[in-house]
Amino acid sequence: MSNHHDLIIIGGGPGGYVAAHRAAQLGLDTACVEKEPLLGGTCLRVGCIPSKALLESSERLLEAQSDLGAHGVRCTGVEFDLAAMLARKERIVRELAGGIEGLFKQRKVARHLGHGRLDGPGRVMVESAEGPRELTAQHIILATGSQPRMLAGVACDGKFIGTSTEALTYEAVPGHLVVIGAGAIGLELGSVWRRLGAKVTVLEFLDRILPEMDAELAADAMKLLARQGLEFRLGTRVTAAHIAGERAVVQCDGQPPIECDRVLVAIGRVPNTERLGLESVGLATDEGGRITVDDHFATNIPGVFAIGDVIRGPMLAHKAEAEARAAVEGIVRGYCHVNYDAIPNVVYTQPEIASVGRNEEQLRREGVAYRKGVSFFRSNGRARVLGHLDGRVKILSDARTDRILGVHIIGPRAGDLIAEAAVAIEFGASSEDLARASHAHPTLAEVIKEAALAVD
Ligand code: NAI
Repeated sequence: MSNHHDLIIIGGGPGGYVAAHRAAQLGLDTACVEKEPLLGGTCLRVGCIPSKALLESSERLLEAQSDLGAHGVRCTGVEFDLAAMLARKERIVRELAGGIEGLFKQRKVARHLGHGRLDGPGRVMVESAEGPRELTAQHIILATGSQPRMLAGVACDGKFIGTSTEALTYEAVPGHLVVIGAGAIGLELGSVWRRLGAKVTVLEFLDRILPEMDAELAADAMKLLARQGLEFRLGTRVTAAHIAGERAVVQCDGQPPIECDRVLVAIGRVPNTERLGLESVGLATDEGGRITVDDHFATNIPGVFAIGDVIRGPMLAHKAEAEARAAVEGIVRGYCHVNYDAIPNVVYTQPEIASVGRNEEQLRREGVAYRKGVSFFRSNGRARVLGHLDGRVKILSDARTDRILGVHIIGPRAGDLIAEAAVAIEFGASSEDLARASHAHPTLAEVIKEAALAVD
């Protein structure tokens, strides 16, 4: 394998592998440096995919236990096999990672296994079990992702107190799981273990859950999740946690300590920039430790680019993918663009919560005059047939031009439904455009149409 490439990408997650594929398609001699044997990054190995596998399996269990009766389908003696659930999840991860590896081979992307770091202008040092290896390239893209933020005073041991990585592999259902942080990770993994039988307590510093989401929908979500048995303690700041024998103890401001079996720390993520050799070239970072880039994903050092969780913006796999394509196209063609207003955000609880564009709080803060249309799933035929009646669609459009500014959905398959809204925003559609577009009957998407009609 050659030591010189047109482009070296450090990181093989959704940012890195998509950049590698696109670069190879556009004819660049491309290499990808990844320290893990499996490609796919956090998203595929220990994030989006395995969590969705467990969410799906645990939802099936719940359905068999309590929902299918209403369809006249009798299930008796329903049991679950946690080991089989975990094995299914691992199989899905391996299969998908194998697919990425296959595409690398097909497109002749060179794969370097090891920890990559910058080592001066145009140089990348790869450290692996076989020793160091120096690579050179005209262009370098940093796509090293992020890792869970740790909390001072909370000693993660990876067994009793851990992060999402550990919460994807508990060998037995914890009697009592305490989740610190009511963001996407806390709610998704909290839901999984609650469905499998754990008592789940979610401790949240703020006076609401899902701080990035529209407040009205977040309030709906909290009510529905509480009905499923998640216990929320808002306005609760965790200050410390320690292990006591076979249990963990969580300390909160002004409240008695909570004893539990497992603690999941889910208070956000921090960019992976340590041991990346940033100092070897003098690469600039912002106050949050993220690598500073311009609209073309170029850093302050010529030839070095960065995308995904290591730069500004939401830490989402599809945001990294969009940036990956754009960065490579910028390198090859000299122009590129990512429309951050059209990047959806989905939380895969039951029901799902999804949004794209700006929410009411943001619009009010910005002083934007808007109109609002709301429609509820309970009056939709398909939702009734599915037996999932909770939720609503909210569309916000510019009061003057009717251009759609934000769409917020809580309800069945919200994560799939939001795609229509993302396309509408991407094309600069008005709520009237959405309302006049024909939506098949009976489908859940009709709730979006009804919300669009309700704007006027
Ligand atoms: P988050 O930033 O979304 O939420 C963390 C929560 O922890 C906040 O509500 C915060 O107020 C709270 N918190 C912080 N310190 C605390 C303390 N000391 N005590 C109590 N509460 C405290 O973080 P999360 O859920 O860890 O997710 C990390 C990143 O991964 C996010 O950017 C998220 O968008 C992304 N992600 C996205 C998913 C999706 O799209 N479905 C799934 C999982 C993660």
